[in-house]
Amino acid sequence: MAMLFLSTPARLPVWKPMFDAAGETLIAGEDAVSDPAQVTAIACWTPPADLSRYPNLRVVLSVGAGVDHLPPMPPGVALARTLAPGIEAMVRDWVVMATLMLHRDMPQYLEQGRARLWQSHPVQLASARRVGIMGMGRIGALVAQSLSALGFDVAGLSRSGQGTDIQTFTAASMDAFLERSDLLVCLLPLTAETRGILGARTFAALPRGARLIHAGRGAHLDLQALRTALDSGQLGSAMLDVTEPEPLPQDHWLWDDPRVILTPHIAAQTDATEGARHALAVMRALNRDTPLPGLVDQAKGY
Ligand code: GLV
Repeated sequence: MAMLFLSTPARLPVWKPMFDAAGETLIAGEDAVSDPAQVTAIACWTPPADLSRYPNLRVVLSVGAGVDHLPPMPPGVALARTLAPGIEAMVRDWVVMATLMLHRDMPQYLEQGRARLWQSHPVQLASARRVGIMGMGRIGALVAQSLSALGFDVAGLSRSGQGTDIQTFTAASMDAFLERSDLLVCLLPLTAETRGILGARTFAALPRGARLIHAGRGAHLDLQALRTALDSGQLGSAMLDVTEPEPLPQDHWLWDDPRVILTPHIAAQTDATEGARHALAVMRALNRDTPLPGLVDQAKGY
């Protein structure tokens, strides 16, 4: 039993000693595999092109929070994603930062700053800003808690519509959710159902001048619809950590639009120690035949 490590090489000096200390075998890179039958798990962002090379493969582990970039698994191969408190905390931090930036009109003040314009605009209480969080999984629930603690009026949208003490809407009541979202936060996983969900129809259902925060996946967002909504004033501003494509081409309009703040998919990066700890927990679960931590429901896609 061994895990094949295909993640960022800089993480290897952390993973290897932790695997050694736990008595688990970690093979760094496909070239180092002498017996493919030994490989029972693969930790990667990009998996090997040919998984059939590994006859005893039981799980592919995404070293990030998402799995939408991974192909369908062959029969009998499980898919798991990394559960790491650091990933959740980092995304929480980014969303709190973005919420405060848009709540306090930072796109406008940054633009005024470039023009050396000293001019104030009315400031609104956090409690008067209704935040709507699409995706109330582990990260969404943590964001909801933090934004509530800052005084924002927070509601969530989730498939099951339950799970926290935050008011949570289901897809069936999506319009009611959108109508009360002055500031919409997208933290959804990318699935066939959620692709393109941030589009004209969703924007039209928001209160006029609403703000958009997006730390899901680029393919959730229809950029042309975003531009139209910004131009019409239906959306006031946006802060995005993800785009389609990534990297965003140099000549893309988003770079120059003062109503948009962009970061290059950095809301979270998996901490090497936390990632290795999770990978070891996956190996232990394989050894003991117990439920895999971070197991993905491949039918649902998250
Ligand atoms: C990053 O987007 C991740 O999935 O961890």
